[in-house]
Amino acid sequence: MSLLSPARTMMPGALYRRNPRTLIRLFITSTAPTVACNSHIIKSCRPLSGLCLPRSSLYGFSYSTHSAMAAPLTVPEPIVHDVFEPRTGTLQYVVADPATKSCVIIDPVLDFDDTSRNIDTDSADALLALVRKHGYHVERILETHAHADHITAASYLQSRLAQEQNHKPPIGIGKRITQVQKLFGERYSVVPAEYKTVFDILFGDNETFSIGALTATVMHLPGHTPDHLGYKIGDNVFCGDSLFNADIGTARCDFPGGNADDLFRSGKTLLSLPEHTKIWTGHDYPPQDRGAPEPWMTVHGHREQNKHLRDGVSRDEFVALRRERDAKLGEPRLLHQSLQINIRGGRFPQPTASGHRMLLMPFKFKPKDLQW
Ligand SMILES: [Fe+2]
Repeated sequence: MSLLSPARTMMPGALYRRNPRTLIRLFITSTAPTVACNSHIIKSCRPLSGLCLPRSSLYGFSYSTHSAMAAPLTVPEPIVHDVFEPRTGTLQYVVADPATKSCVIIDPVLDFDDTSRNIDTDSADALLALVRKHGYHVERILETHAHADHITAASYLQSRLAQEQNHKPPIGIGKRITQVQKLFGERYSVVPAEYKTVFDILFGDNETFSIGALTATVMHLPGHTPDHLGYKIGDNVFCGDSLFNADIGTARCDFPGGNADDLFRSGKTLLSLPEHTKIWTGHDYPPQDRGAPEPWMTVHGHREQNKHLRDGVSRDEFVALRRERDAKLGEPRLLHQSLQINIRGGRFPQPTASGHRMLLMPFKFKPKDLQW
């Protein structure tokens, strides 16, 4: 794919700051008052025919500074900071109201090294630094679903922010998380007392809430998981693992409660939004010929190019290709760790008498009926 393919020419102006763990890009939507380049960011970019190029060779992609599709300015638009966590390919978001500096954090990552089993907070601390730098007030921490590939930093951030801003931001997730907690609580022997009250808000379908002067609307987008939500804020939808970049397509549907039929419907719900609507994805795993993560694509772009859900792909075709693909996928590397922590909202099990915090790991036998 050319660097200036139709998809990429619709990408926003992008300014990068690289730290050891995360790629932080500030994106300001068309109605934001100014582009807040600090000197470091300006140094990392050079203008070339309207392009802003990151210096990093690892993420050396170009983005047009102007959208090819002008969005009608009918609703207040947020400032969106996408922060890429490369170990798990997760896109974390800080979405702010430029008028009041209220913001939400969506799908934050807690760093986990599965070799050493060390937890650290570099990625989450980078989000806190970003919030501090811009003078934001975090009103809520939002999860799109119970992730199976990374551990959420929601609980850590809530605790830190309660101290820093004298307000404990509630953690919100979809109301169907209770089904997911019950299912995996039983599977991993997590007692209900450890997960029952860890989420402060259980969103209903189509519920709305404010972020300063902005309005966010909750969209139920089942398929990848049954509890899965998207958050529509202005002309942006933070769709979690519903849609991935067009060259990847969609997320797997083979977790318990996942369903390819549901994902097809959820995808079509997203792609029936106005064509200029930006769909911000929860992960990106850029192939070599693309190289850099791309956080969003318009509805128009997906309808033309999405590998799985572009216009013309039928429900039956989608379900067949999703099932065929899912049958070949291995388990996510952090599946068991993620689920056991994430149904607890990012909290850890109580220490044992020996002082260790323990998780359960199921064994598999090959052949399945192996006995001795
Ligand atoms: Fe997921």
